[in-house]
Order: sequence, then C-alpha cells, then structure tokens
Amino acid sequence: MNRISALHGSQSSLVIEQAPAGLLWRYWGPRLPDDFRSGPWLEFARPVPTFSLDVPVPLHLVPTFGLGWYGQSALLAHRAGRDFAQGFGQCDVVQHGQHLACKLLDTVAGIELCVDLVLDPATDVIEIRTMVTNIGTAVLDVQWLAAATLPLPDDASAVRHFSGRHNREFAEHTDALGHGIWLRENRHGITSHGHFPGAVVLLPGTTDDDGTAYGAQIAWSGNHRQLIERLDDGRSQWQLGGWLAPGEVRLAPGERHESPAVLATCSTAGLGGVARNFHGALRQRLGWPGGTMRPRPVLINSWEGFYFDHDPDRMMALADAAARIGVERFVLDDGWFAGRDDDRTSLGDWWVDGRKYPDGLKPLADHVRGLGMEFGLWVEPEMISPNSDLFRAHPDWALQLAGRPLATARHQLVLDLTRPEVGDYLFDRLAALVAELGVDYLKWDHNRDLAPAGDAAGRAAYTAQVRSTWALMARLRSSFPDLEIESCAGGGGRIDAGIAAHVNRFWASDCIDARLRIGLQRGFQQFLPPEVMGAHIGAERCHTTGRRFSLAFQALVACQGHLGLEFDLTQLDADEQAKLAGWIGFYKEHRHLLHGGDVWAGEGSDGVAWHAAGSADEYLLLVYRTEVMQQRHASPLRLPFLHDGTWRIAEVRPGERRAETDYSGAWLAQAGLPIPPGLPDTATAWHMARL
Ligand code: GLA
Repeated sequence: MNRISALHGSQSSLVIEQAPAGLLWRYWGPRLPDDFRSGPWLEFARPVPTFSLDVPVPLHLVPTFGLGWYGQSALLAHRAGRDFAQGFGQCDVVQHGQHLACKLLDTVAGIELCVDLVLDPATDVIEIRTMVTNIGTAVLDVQWLAAATLPLPDDASAVRHFSGRHNREFAEHTDALGHGIWLRENRHGITSHGHFPGAVVLLPGTTDDDGTAYGAQIAWSGNHRQLIERLDDGRSQWQLGGWLAPGEVRLAPGERHESPAVLATCSTAGLGGVARNFHGALRQRLGWPGGTMRPRPVLINSWEGFYFDHDPDRMMALADAAARIGVERFVLDDGWFAGRDDDRTSLGDWWVDGRKYPDGLKPLADHVRGLGMEFGLWVEPEMISPNSDLFRAHPDWALQLAGRPLATARHQLVLDLTRPEVGDYLFDRLAALVAELGVDYLKWDHNRDLAPAGDAAGRAAYTAQVRSTWALMARLRSSFPDLEIESCAGGGGRIDAGIAAHVNRFWASDCIDARLRIGLQRGFQQFLPPEVMGAHIGAERCHTTGRRFSLAFQALVACQGHLGLEFDLTQLDADEQAKLAGWIGFYKEHRHLLHGGDVWAGEGSDGVAWHAAGSADEYLLLVYRTEVMQQRHASPLRLPFLHDGTWRIAEVRPGERRAETDYSGAWLAQAGLPIPPGLPDTATAWHMARL
C-alpha cells in the first residue's frame, strides 16, 4: 500500500507518495482540502506511449539519472566512474507536524540522501534541504546535488527572473517556458549582481496580484544553479541548488555534503502573493539584536560625499549636520584605514590611518555618539590588497592556484577564509575595532568576484568560503549581540536569504538613481522584505547615471526601504536642510507602516508605478510617475488589495495632510483612486486608514 504524506499551508499544499519505486512528487500547488483524495497515479493509469520504458518513471522527490529518468538528474555523482546511475528505491518518511524528514537509500551505489521539507503554515513557504552521505567504501565524487526538485504544473508558462551588473541590479525579465531547459548558473563565487538565486514561475493569466505563481530562492551566498525543464512528455521540474566546481565535493566513506536551503512558495495571489510569503519567511530568518526589529534608523553614509578623502573635522561637521536634521546613525565608509587613499591598497590592514586620524577614530566615534547617533564602520574583511602589510606578511593567505597568475579585481585579492588562522586574524581585528570604538554597525563589503578560489591544497574552495564567511559573521555577532551588519558587495552582489540570517540590511545597489531604483527595489522586494533594503537619498545629480532628481522624488523612492543619506550634507543651505529634515520626519512618522507589514505593488496606466505598505487597517501608498504622460488626464489608480470596508485617504507630505476623502475599498479596487497628473520623476504619498 502506498503511503501519502501531505503538508498544508493556508494557501498551498504539497503531497508526496511513498511507492515501491521510491519517493514520488504527487502535488505542489494551491491548497487542497485536508481530506483530499488523489486517485491513482496518472502515470500508471494511462497507456504507455510507444518507444517508452514499459514501467513509467514518475517525478521523484530526488529524480536521478540512469534508471529511466531522462530529465535532469537531481544528483550527479560517481565513484571513479562507477555507480553513475543511482536509484533510491528504499525510502522512509517521518512526519512531525509540518516537517517531513525523508531518508532515501541506494544500497547498490552506496549513497544515502536525507531530504527535509518544512512547510510553515503562517507564510506558506517550504524550506527544503538535501544531504548526501557516502555509505560506500570508496570516495564519491558529487558533481551536482539539487537542494530541491520542485514539480511544476504542465501549463507553467513563464518565468520571472532577474539579471544585472554592478550599478544595475535586479533587471527584470519574463521568459516564456518552452520545450527544453531554462537554466541560470552563477559561478562568481558570491551571490552575484547578475544572477539573483531565485525566480517566480507563472501560470497563464497570472498577474501582480492574482493567479497562481510559484516562487523559489536559494538561501546561499555563493555559486548556484537553477533549471526548469519541460520534458517531452509535458511534465516540468524545477531544480535549485549550489553550483559545484569540478572536484569540489569528494566524499570519503562516511562523509556527507549538505545543500543550501531552498525556500519555495505557491500563492494564488500572483507575484505579490509570492513576495509577501517570502517576506514572512525572511522575517523569521533575520536575527535582530534583542530578538525584534527596532525602527530602522535613518543613516548617513560618507561614501559618495567624501569617497577616500577623510578628514576628522569634516567628518565631525558631517555628523553635526546629520544630527541636526534627525539622522540616527553615522556610517564611516571606505578610506579610514592604513594608507587607504584609493582602491589600490591596504585591504587587510585594519588599523586606523594615523595620517588622516592622528588621534584614532575614537574621538569621531565618541562625537557621533555624543550627538545621539550610532556609529557605523565600513570594512571589507574577506579582501587583501597585494599592496598591504598583510599580504607582505602572508602572501599564501590569498585564494590562489599554484602555477597560475594572481587575478586581481579592483586591484585586490580574496583571503582564504577556510584557513582557521585567517578567520582568527579577521575576528581579532574586527572584534578589536568594535570593542575599542563601540561600533554599532558594520557595513561589510565584498568588492570582487572570486577567481580562482583555490585553497592551500589546490582544490576549489567556493562552498567552504561561503560557510566560513557566515561563521565569521555569526562569531562576531555572538561576541557583540547588539552589533548590526549590512551586507554589501559593490552594492547588491550579495543579497540572498542565506546571508540574511547573519545581517540586518542589504545595500541594494551602488546606483542611487531614483528612477532606476523603482524597478530595482521592486525586484529586491520580490524576495526580501523592505526593512532590510538599504535605500539612500543622494546628491541631486546621481553619481552613477548623471541624471538629476528632486529631493521629494528621491525621498519617496528611498523611504520604501531602510532610509539613508549619502552626500555631503554640510553643503546644504538652511532651506535645503529644513526640507531634508522634513522628509526624515516623514519617514520616521511612517516607518511603522513601511516596514514589517504587507507590501503591495503594481503599475497604473500611463507611466505610473505604485507601492503600498502597511497592515490590514492602515497603509502608506506611494505613487510614482516614471514617464511623460500621454493622456490629457490621469487615470484613476486601481488598488487591488482593498476589497472591503471604507477608507479615509489623504495625500500627505512632510508636515502636511491634504483634504481627506472617504472611499469604499471595493471602489478603490475596481474604479480606482483619483490621482493628479504630474511630470516624470515625481511622486505623491497617500495615507489610507480604514474607518
Ligand atoms: C563598494 C560599495 C560602496 C562603497 C565602496 C567603497 O562599491 O558598494 O557603497 O562602500 O565599495 O570602496
């Protein structure tokens, strides 16, 4: 008798079946009733097509090549060329509440797999991870292990995914799913700017707020791989996991390798439903000092205002100007340490530059704290400049391959964090800085990809490097429980649900261009919640695109996330300071709505984008005009997230609340909110409260 195991969320269900052939996927999709009846396997009930194996091979929880599964294998492994074809006929499933612990055994090939699936009913997100153990008597080479293989419905028609580069992260794409394989691989060694490790699969007709959508993301800060394969029999599978370099995982008898976790969710509320489910799951993973998120403090970052040009008096003046307008955290960016006058030098020498700061950084840190602000410091721990005392003392500490040239990027190399002495050195230096200066916040940067990531034994160290970095962050935070960390890698090169467990903010992009940021931030929030998305108001003329934007537009784009400022505030006149103070006050007044609640977003007609955040009874709605209007009049903006009740809506600006109007929720959803016409690159904000 086959055994069915099911997990139910509030919107979704998954079903697997323990059959003589192994552990099979039966279903993942919209919620089934608790007492659902699934009938027999279609594969076994329907006629066998010509030129097919006489016994059909259904989609297994871990489909493997070689025994009749012609699709991509979830495991590619061999033992000196043998045991290449695995079959996990023996299986055991133990269910503890919402957790399915699955054990699969191939006694012929000598391999054991453990697959854990946990479906959280509060978020509808399934966390899946897979572990492979070599139970044979010789070394097992593992070439690919999918952390998760997910079944997709036959009519899955499109995949929404994101590409990009430094200064242009989260560029959105929607590809039609045709025959064959849709594949994204990242071999940059970090999460990367160009390949966000996740995607959303859509059924025909699925929109931002309606229809069935399947989302998945790999909680991993290194190389990764995801593929969607439509088989010639019409079925589709989606595999996600860590990409492995040749020879990276070679398991001695008894050794095991664990995949990263995959977070997967199915929503019937479209792309937005997937995003909100992920926000809930990510919020559970974040580790806030004290256990809960404090209101996200407005910060000032010194980078674009000063670059490498540090001077204690000017930094103190910046802190004074920032404190006067309500800034709550001061972050001293790159340029403060030994000899660091440009990006060609000194990474690894984490001592304060006595030429720039003759009395050290303590006076500045104390000054900042005396003004009532937190003190933050930029570091790039995993890096080493060839021109550094650290490299001169320990050239072997850099990741490298004997006989190969050292490949620098931004004139720097990457430390081999898998060496315990490197981890200890970094921990000691960082801990000393945090303790001596009372650092509240580290901006933790990583300004290059890995190449080559060879360890001392000449083997690929990609996976171990990620785990060592996470461990270093965890070690530091357990020594300094109040410390917050920001993940930055030349902007958004290391944004993922894995490192999210160790950090409290992501620098989403080095590009602060407000127009570009609207889409970029939308992409970020497809997978991660707004409160961890660093978003800054920069100089009027954007440094990376040369475009000019008003303060109001920049402020209303940046306040979606964790607000910061990044320009030389000391240059502002009194009127400009007052205006900026007004926007900081506006953010503080609304951050309880902007962060921690539900996010809804979409597009109106004629070049309008919108973003609403809040709870069931109160929202802040931000409306952006991104194009020159083609129409004479602005069309009302439909707000599909409002279904019922009566809502009091007023346009709001710093210190100002304009005329209130009451609307039915259904009216706003179907007929829409009247919005004013406007120029491109302008925005309005609306407070909405249920009566
Ligand atoms: C990276 C970061 C920037 C800044 C510089 C400093 O590019 O993304 O915000 O910190 O490094 O070198």
